[in-house]
Amino acid sequence: MAVVGILTAGGDCPGLNAVIRAATARVVAGGGTMVGFRDGWAGAMEDHVIPLDRDAVRGILGRGGTILGTSRTDPYVHGQGLASLTPTLRKHEVDVLVVVGGDGTLRSAARLADEGLSVVGVPKTIDNDIPGTDVTFGFHTAVQIATDAIDRLTTTAEAHNRVMLVEVMGRSQGWIALYSGLASGADVILIPELPMPLEEAAGIITRRHAAGHNYSIVVVAEGISPPDAHELPKDAFGFDRLGGVAYDVAPVLERLTGFETRVTVLGHLQRGGTPTAFDRVLATRLGTAAADAALAGTRGIMVAVRGTTIDTVPLTEAGGPIRGVDPALYEVARTFFG
Ligand code: F6P
Repeated sequence: MAVVGILTAGGDCPGLNAVIRAATARVVAGGGTMVGFRDGWAGAMEDHVIPLDRDAVRGILGRGGTILGTSRTDPYVHGQGLASLTPTLRKHEVDVLVVVGGDGTLRSAARLADEGLSVVGVPKTIDNDIPGTDVTFGFHTAVQIATDAIDRLTTTAEAHNRVMLVEVMGRSQGWIALYSGLASGADVILIPELPMPLEEAAGIITRRHAAGHNYSIVVVAEGISPPDAHELPKDAFGFDRLGGVAYDVAPVLERLTGFETRVTVLGHLQRGGTPTAFDRVLATRLGTAAADAALAGTRGIMVAVRGTTIDTVPLTEAGGPIRGVDPALYEVARTFFG
């Protein structure tokens, strides 16, 4: 029977353990053997492999992080593509590799599939921006965490008559900012794909305060362009290391409005801890579907959410243009600005 390998790569997100649990249980139930690679692609390149069976994945459904570990090591950035993985995959007689990752990881998985590797992709990211799937697990949890934080910041902002900037993750897209801003009734939401000039944001805040509402909540996506462009440090994959743009925006808004402006950067809080029930179920469905595809001999695909069903799409779809928010939804949020 098939030997199925699994790895989690890129930034972690709540629900990874639910995928590992579901895929392992399903492979084992189907008569296959499961092995896990430690720390993403690094484990497959350096032969860090652990056996996975039903007992190995008990008790992890609601646990954040990933029992396999993850990294931003990439077989094309840090190795020679498939050649870097072949010795480990051969040694453990892996027939098919389940790769749980974001857009960068899935793009590398598609290149490996082109080189002949049998791959099944599972999209994951709190950013919710992977093309080919309607939603990614982890997003719902991140939005809930951000919304809870904004609700708390709202009461202290109100008590002190302050403008409160809350920076959320999302790299180049504003999904978390838009959803948490909508859920908390934010006065302004700044996202990269639909940029709003800071003069306009200041105008909204000034009018709101003139109308007698002496505090404002501004949700800032980490990926917006800073008022003064500057070079950012890179991560191991070569992506910009984001975080802190709200500190650049705050003094500009304070100058334009004349109101005391404070900043909270939520950062990795949004990725840590237990997944919501929604994400646990979604991750379980995707992990199960990935195992079924692996056992059925379906290759070069990604399991994906289409409407309310789980489908398979060509892995290459994950390499398409990053999925931004629906402008119509931003217009809905705008109704409540100020
Ligand atoms: O892609 C997921 C994500 O959480 C982004 O929202 C964020 O910019 C990035 O990862 C942070 O990555 P790291 O933890 O490697 O700094």
